[in-house]
Amino acid sequence: MRGSFGQHFRLTIFGESHGDAIGMVIDGIPAGTPLDEAAIARDMARRAPGLDPTATSRKEPDRVRIVSGLFEGRATGTPLCGLIENTNTRSGDYAQLRAKMRPGHADYAGHVKYGGYNDPRGGGHFSGRITAPLVFAGAVARQLLAAKGIAIGAHIAAIGDIADDPLDPVCIRADALIRLQQSRFPLLNPAKEAPMRAAVEAAKADLDSVGGVIECAAVGVPAGIGSPFFGSVESVVSQLLFSVPAVKAVEFGDGMAIAQKRASDANDAMHYENGCVTCLTNHNGGVTGGITNGMPIVLRAAVKPTPSIARVQQTVDLMTAENTTLSIAGRHDPCIVPRAVVVIESALAIALCELMMDNASTRAMQ
Ligand SMILES: Cc1cc2nc3c(=O)[nH]c(=O)nc-3n(C[C@H](O)[C@H](O)[C@H](O)COP(=O)(O)O)c2cc1C
Repeated sequence: MRGSFGQHFRLTIFGESHGDAIGMVIDGIPAGTPLDEAAIARDMARRAPGLDPTATSRKEPDRVRIVSGLFEGRATGTPLCGLIENTNTRSGDYAQLRAKMRPGHADYAGHVKYGGYNDPRGGGHFSGRITAPLVFAGAVARQLLAAKGIAIGAHIAAIGDIADDPLDPVCIRADALIRLQQSRFPLLNPAKEAPMRAAVEAAKADLDSVGGVIECAAVGVPAGIGSPFFGSVESVVSQLLFSVPAVKAVEFGDGMAIAQKRASDANDAMHYENGCVTCLTNHNGGVTGGITNGMPIVLRAAVKPTPSIARVQQTVDLMTAENTTLSIAGRHDPCIVPRAVVVIESALAIALCELMMDNASTRAMQ
């Protein structure tokens, strides 16, 4: 089990969906860093359940209790630990899932890996709820990045087959990204909200769920962050993005579509603008050779349809060793995408903190 990430911004997350509490420990925050708890609470509220019709009706405030590492509003430099209590569990909803494996969920794979000792209530450690500590860590990371002039934001790029307008990858304003963070359903084209919500409602009415895509960007990232090969920006950021449950694909810049292009349409022509090197296009999503090139980092993450659905599905019963069927009751997100927007931003923030601290430590050694 790998519950930890990073060598500089060292993050450990822990907990189960229906245990007493979930939380995280971060080691590596420089002593004296001011931490704004109200900003952390704002990000937690963006992910919290029960606040939007596209989300589960499980209502939990997701208030973080910081139990160490913060004194008089500043990081002490020792591990920062935050706890989030699980206050609204209904474990009875999960009784049949001890035996019957949910298709598309982690029940079977987790049962095999942990020999049946894993906590199955509410999905245990595989629950989307464990992204709450990730958002807490992301909110901290964002504050470190903001002090360096870096802003991160994201929007719902698609729900089902309904797409929002894309970000302009060359010119993304920090204030536009921050404005997106203020919406529970962040879109660049507000006219897309009604059809997207209708798609979620239609799936729910069909006892089904729907997936989508989140587009995320970071601006203000200086050129020269990251390393070739194993420490590449894409690989470090992807590791965090693929740690988010339900993320099944990640692309940077033009992503999969770049394979159909010619170099003349995929290269980012360069020029001097006010004495600074910049690119006229951003097909490479702000990263070349695994290293930032000063353009906005632009990525997309595909989020699958919520696996727990009420529609009858074929599965197996591990108690009786028989084939069976399953209709899943309980409170589930009919669409994960809106709640996952801040989770994707958080994953990028944590990865960028790690990469920037790695750069700083390498420089210190030179
Ligand atoms: C914010 C968030 C909320 C989620 N809510 C649910 C949910 O209500 N029901 C569910 O079955 N899966 C939900 N998931 C997804 C499952 O946790 C995930 O599909 C499962 O652990 C299997 O992992 P995989 O999809 O990465 O293979 C959620 C994921 C996230 C990020």
